[in-house]
Parts: sequence; C-alpha cells; structure tokens
Amino acid sequence: MKLFLDSAKTDEIKHALAMWDLDGITTNPRHIRDSGKSFHVVIDEIAELVGGTNKPVSVEVNPHLTDWKQILAEGLALAKRSPNFVIKVGASESGFKAMRELASKGVRVNATLIFSVAQAWHAARAGAAYISPFLGWKEQYGDSINGFVREIRTLLDNFGYKSEIIAAAIRNSRQLSDAAVAGAHCATAALSLYQESFKNPYTDLGEHIFQNAWDATPQ
Ligand code: E4P
Repeated sequence: MKLFLDSAKTDEIKHALAMWDLDGITTNPRHIRDSGKSFHVVIDEIAELVGGTNKPVSVEVNPHLTDWKQILAEGLALAKRSPNFVIKVGASESGFKAMRELASKGVRVNATLIFSVAQAWHAARAGAAYISPFLGWKEQYGDSINGFVREIRTLLDNFGYKSEIIAAAIRNSRQLSDAAVAGAHCATAALSLYQESFKNPYTDLGEHIFQNAWDATPQ
C-alpha cells in the first residue's frame, strides 16, 4: 500500500519525503487554508518539492463549481501547472461527467468524497485514476466502514477497472492496517497519524526492559 501524506504544509511534506520515502501527497481546500498561503502559491511550492519524480499530488478544483464544463476547465488549467498534479473532483453527476472528460484528455483524476460503493463504481467507470473513500468521516457520522474498502476493491477487480483506492481520512493505526488488509492501493493520512502508527506502548516497555538488561551487563 502506497503512503500518501494528506497535507499542504511544506514543512510536513519535506519531513515525510526525507524520512518515509513518501509515495505521494493529497491536499484539499481545508489543508490549503491551513497552510496559511494562497492556493496557487502553495500548490506550486508542493509541485516544486516533488519535481522530477513521479509522485502524484492531488489538487482539488474549486468545490463551489457545479457545472461539469467549469470543473473540466479548471481541472485542465490545474493539470497544466505540473505533471505531478492529479485533479481532485467531488462525487456528483456533474463531477463524474467532468472526471470522464478529464480522463479522456489524459488528465489523472482523484474522485473525492466517496461514501458508497455505488459512487466508487461511477468513478471507476468515469476513468478516475484514484478513488478516495473517506473512512473517518463516514464513521464519524455513525456509518459503518466494515467491508467498505474490501467491497470497492472487489468491484474494481471484478470488472478490471484500473482505478486505485486511496483510503482517506484515516483516524487511527487500526484503520490504516485494516485498509491495507482490505486491499486499498494507497492510504492518505495526516503526519501525526503516521507518527502515531510508528509507536506502540509495548515497544516502549520492551525498550525499557532491554535497556535495564543492557545496563546490568558488563560491557
Ligand atoms: C483525502 O484525500 C482528504 O484530503 C482527506 O482524507 C480529508 O479528510 P481529513 O482532512 O478530515 O482527514
């Protein structure tokens, strides 16, 4: 499973690139706002950080756009800014039409805000390179995520769709490992979530036991 960082903060992206052999980056309007920079400034900075690599950077179109022609026009303009950019488009009738048009023009699309297998199917049919089920959001509002990623993966495999699943909005280490076991091709999460996933209290306890043994051994 590929490890994508969900962030628009360049210091976080630099850390993940240097430390984790990061596979890609996803942003959304909230992450762009939290970067404290303007949209075009920050996406160009991120593009520079991954320039010369094949690491995808998902960049979302203006979420106010509801007309597929406008989504298409903005997606094409964004895609021209960097070969790394993957265009994030929200699931809707117009969104799926825009995805289809973008894909037919060779632009990679990330179908975002996916909350049902039916939406994932529409995205796959539209030729989306990536499909992003929002696991944490779904669970937060009382919906079960049991089997969600596995069902999307089965759908893709049944019909030979080439789309990759990005397990998104991951909130804990268990969701991360469940996504991998269920067949997600990629995960995207916050820097802090990955940092938590490196750790376990038993590992700390074990280190302490070994340190005591080390100290009690003649060197
Ligand atoms: C995924 O591509 C989204 O950017 C992301 O997972 C949104 O969720 P969050 O910011 O609430 O984690």
